[in-house]
Amino acid sequence: MSPDKIPGLRDNVRVLVIPGTDPVGDWMADVIRSEPDMVFLGLVRDLSQVPESLDRLTPDVILVDIGSGILQKGDLLNRLSAPASGAAVIVVAMMGEVDMVRQAMLYGAQGFLLKPFGEADLLSSVRQAFDLIVQRRKESPGAKALPGGTAQEPGERAEVVSIFSPKGGVGCTTLAINLAVALKAASEKPVTLVDGDLRFGDVDTALNITSATSIGTLLPQLDELDNQLLRRSLATHSSGIQVLSAPHNLDAADTIRPEELKRLLVRLAELDAGYLVVDTWSTLDDSTLAILDISQHVIVITTPQVTALRDVHRFMEVLDLLSYELDRTLLVLNHAYHRSEIKLQDMERALGYPIVQTIEYAPGPVTASLNRGVPLVLEYSDTMAAQNIKRLAQMLIERGARAESEGLRLGEGRARRKKAKKRGLFSWRGPAAARGVSL
Ligand SMILES: Nc1ncnc2c1ncn2[C@@H]1O[C@H](COP(=O)(O)OP(=O)(O)O)[C@@H](O)[C@H]1O
Ligand SMILES: [Mg+2]
Repeated sequence: MSPDKIPGLRDNVRVLVIPGTDPVGDWMADVIRSEPDMVFLGLVRDLSQVPESLDRLTPDVILVDIGSGILQKGDLLNRLSAPASGAAVIVVAMMGEVDMVRQAMLYGAQGFLLKPFGEADLLSSVRQAFDLIVQRRKESPGAKALPGGTAQEPGERAEVVSIFSPKGGVGCTTLAINLAVALKAASEKPVTLVDGDLRFGDVDTALNITSATSIGTLLPQLDELDNQLLRRSLATHSSGIQVLSAPHNLDAADTIRPEELKRLLVRLAELDAGYLVVDTWSTLDDSTLAILDISQHVIVITTPQVTALRDVHRFMEVLDLLSYELDRTLLVLNHAYHRSEIKLQDMERALGYPIVQTIEYAPGPVTASLNRGVPLVLEYSDTMAAQNIKRLAQMLIERGARAESEGLRLGEGRARRKKAKKRGLFSWRGPAAARGVSL
């Protein structure tokens, strides 16, 4: 073990800073210096010293300020980035310098930070870049292309799968995460998971990832980001899925307008012809409706309790009133017990919709997977609950393929609301007479 190494932590991250003319470089140096799992290698102010410093110091992550004039130095940036140096480059720029960031990305930079940014943003960017570079070194020492960078056929877009429940705490986030990972494994297509629980999103915690970028930081820059930058703004999880976290603070969440959220999701869907999985929160507000609006598959979760069933029943009626095309909704029963007091057929009869998949109640593995920050479908893949989720993923893949073979373009027509009946969301007054189970 090297003397720098702290037991129990990842390998120490060796960070080199190439500052601009403002004090941000010194501030970054101070922040890196005070981190126990990082080694600050120095500030290189003179660009002519950079090649020598690279050879001598072997950094893992290089923070380069655009203000250093690096872009005017021909291929120097190219030499800084993997595979030439084996390091990940993070470009530091002003808000208005997105063009230069784009140029730096073409030279091989892996990430970017736009000033002003805070300590947490800096550190999570460095850690994320380091994880990426470690993964890259392991996979193929010479490789340079980044995940999710596959060329996209014009006109192809991801199928949007949203997970919703009118009742909170019934397993939306658990399913969103595991479904995304299962879709990735089964389809081998790019999968992006978005945490659409704007206020209390916990996808990043449940996956044990930190990301400087979130819906809150991405939205103000969205128009300036081309697809390449947008793709690189997403965090990459070890399962191969891309993740976009919910805003990191409540204030940011409250300023997000539903149409902005929708625009972001459409941009993300247009990045790759895979899957865009969106977790939601349990309130049918305009943001949730914006998510449902662009979803080709809406997974609605219930549990085998009368209260949850009643909420889902009401929700389906509201969707009908709002003239949503209900063939997009897939009803899933979570926390399914072997011996539930209410029989599956009775639930289906009461709801008026078939339950397409049940997910076994598995408190031990589900809690352990959430606490350890690892997906159930990977680490506890032999549990019945994991098998159930994989089956649901397969069902979605087959639905998409069927729609395609029937000439239906998912996301057009079927996904749109039918002509509105002009009835308000809350004009609904109570459940219709239920059959079998009293809701
Ligand atoms: N199939 C399951 N078996 C056992 N516990 C589950 C299952 N699905 C979810 N849970 C538990 O339910 C709680 C809420 O899950 P979560 O996914 O956060 O729900 P939501 O996002 O709907 O609020 C978590 O503590 C999780 O461990
Ligand atoms: Mg949740």
